[in-house]
Amino acid sequence: MIGVFDSGIGGLNVLKELTKLMPERDFIYFGDSNNCPYGEKSDSELMAITTSIVMHFKEMGCKIIVIACNTATTRCMKKLRKQFPDLIFVGTVPAIKVACDRESKKTLVMATPATIDSERTEELVRDYKRPDQEIFLVPCEGLASAIEHKNYYDIRKIIKNIHEEYKDKGIDAIVLGCTHYPNAKKQIEEFFPNVPLLDGSNGVAREVKRQICKNHISSVGQTGEVKILDTL
Ligand code: DGL
Repeated sequence: MIGVFDSGIGGLNVLKELTKLMPERDFIYFGDSNNCPYGEKSDSELMAITTSIVMHFKEMGCKIIVIACNTATTRCMKKLRKQFPDLIFVGTVPAIKVACDRESKKTLVMATPATIDSERTEELVRDYKRPDQEIFLVPCEGLASAIEHKNYYDIRKIIKNIHEEYKDKGIDAIVLGCTHYPNAKKQIEEFFPNVPLLDGSNGVAREVKRQICKNHISSVGQTGEVKILDTL
């Protein structure tokens, strides 16, 4: 069984790709909406939350944990790997590499304040940005919560403000660096028409499949069951 979690509905976008690619596998999804937003919490709060989720998944027999959340990946995954060396972790980070590889010259990265402020995001920019490329890192405070609570007024207001600030910069790619943000694609496209929106969900699914093959994790006895939980 593969355990997948996020602070709420965002990780369902990742789960969709996982089940499409591996329909024969069993998945358990935990949407931790009681603790949403992760992106405005301290590292110690995030570590306490994610450690407890991973412990539950481990007790349920998960061998692979998918952190379907950029915030938890960028702030906690390194430490979780150390704490649980017997588990395989696959996380998701803002698709900065994808934007740089496709020669985008001015990339807007939308993510939670905690993701934007993380060492991991700094590393991604350092590793992949070439001198002729510009990357604008935008902490989107409140956006994940607004999406979680389907507060369309706030969603539009936050995106409108971002547009106001970046509309004259010639943005040619937008990285959706939070798994909730694909749920606001329509609103983002309204303000940034014809700008490609990049998200990493499909890449995460392919990485999980690679890890399964590499570690010979059998699917014997699995029936393609998908359980979705909002409490553990
Ligand atoms: N969906 C998560 C992410 O990818 C967390 C959003 C939040 O709870 O702040 O960052």
